[in-house]
Amino acid sequence: MIQFNYSQNLLFSDADMQQHQEEISKVYQQLTTKSGKGNDFLGWLDLPEETDEVLLNQIQSCANRLERQSEIVVVIGIGGSYLGARAVIEALQHSYKGFSPFSDNHAPYVTYAGNNISEDNLCELLEVLDHKDYSLIVISKSGTTTEPAIAFRILKKHCEDKYGKEWAKQRIVAITDKTRGALKQMADANGYETFVIPDDVGGRYSVLTPVGLLPIAVAGFDIRQLIAGARAMRHELLSQTNLNDNIAQQYALIRYLLYQSGKKIELMVAYNPKLAFFIEWYKQLFGESEGKEGKGIFPTGATFSTDLHSLGQYIQEGERHLFETVLSIQQSRFQVPIPEDAENLDKLNYLLGKSIQEINLTAEEGTRMAHVDGKVPNLRLIVPKVDENNLGQLIYFFEFSCALGGYLLDINPFDQPGVEAYKKNMFRLLGKPQ
Ligand code: PA5
Repeated sequence: MIQFNYSQNLLFSDADMQQHQEEISKVYQQLTTKSGKGNDFLGWLDLPEETDEVLLNQIQSCANRLERQSEIVVVIGIGGSYLGARAVIEALQHSYKGFSPFSDNHAPYVTYAGNNISEDNLCELLEVLDHKDYSLIVISKSGTTTEPAIAFRILKKHCEDKYGKEWAKQRIVAITDKTRGALKQMADANGYETFVIPDDVGGRYSVLTPVGLLPIAVAGFDIRQLIAGARAMRHELLSQTNLNDNIAQQYALIRYLLYQSGKKIELMVAYNPKLAFFIEWYKQLFGESEGKEGKGIFPTGATFSTDLHSLGQYIQEGERHLFETVLSIQQSRFQVPIPEDAENLDKLNYLLGKSIQEINLTAEEGTRMAHVDGKVPNLRLIVPKVDENNLGQLIYFFEFSCALGGYLLDINPFDQPGVEAYKKNMFRLLGKPQ
């Protein structure tokens, strides 16, 4: 299981934390008895138990079909209808998968569209798709979001022009609401294979529904293990009801206490670039959940050691308003020892025989010491290795902690009223009919 260590948070001892047992127990109760704000959006809480073999088999067989007919699968979606799938896929897939023959599985290359309104980005994708066999997975809970709708209109036409209208239908899968929205209507009218996003699961909590599971299965990863990891974490968090033993309570509470002490920014850090999109997923989950009513920690992220050569100076000596949470991965997948070099002109022979992972973990330790010396509170999630099971645990852990954090701030962690502001302006400027 993943572990959590807050001993280097600099400001609060275990005894300080214990004084807030009642406060955290109250919000834990609200969440687990489904009596808090936004309780009609708590479907994610039980997803790991409720996702049954029938659904998993349907998802897997759809994924197998898409795999057989595609070199590329384009996942069209934005926000919660995009980030979870990409977070897991990028964490697990070969970093250079596009450069076959080095890829480590035969699954299609999964790429993404509809998560921006860049004309260049879309046109470059179309250029690639001219020369490849491909399928589309279009995801939108509301079925009306502008960015994926534009991308889908264009990609659907490309697909129909390339394969013919009837064959194109076999290459398009829609994931949307069970009854509402334009995408549902289009799927029904065209007979696309369709998966449902449950009513009581909001976008950013939906990675363990078909929204995440289908793209992850298409990319060749084990969705049963992902669910198993989430289920194990669910069991852990629901059976350990006290602060002493419940790592989500600990994480939510220490974040809240740090926030109240003026630490307004959380820097989520990984020492592995494969986790960059996991950090993007975390940013959306916490940003959209907590940032409202003039409250909330600003969630941001960094990849070390890369960003130690850019943000490192600020973190060490800039304004003291941030704390760091490290995704500390203990084992790498590959091992490359530092080779001997008789000339030693680069002066690296002192590292002889050490693996890159050992050096990376040492960089992590050295950085932690330096940042703690520089008065940056350090929290640590210790993850044995990056695999489906551990990612499932992390997903459920962060979702649960985020909900607790929202309740500590006394806000509804499951709505996102602020997201509408830019849309209203854009629609007015574009002259969208009312
Ligand atoms: O978390 C959320 O609710 C949002 O980020 C949505 O996922 C995002 O806006 C996309 O919405 P939809 O799935 O309706 O297209």
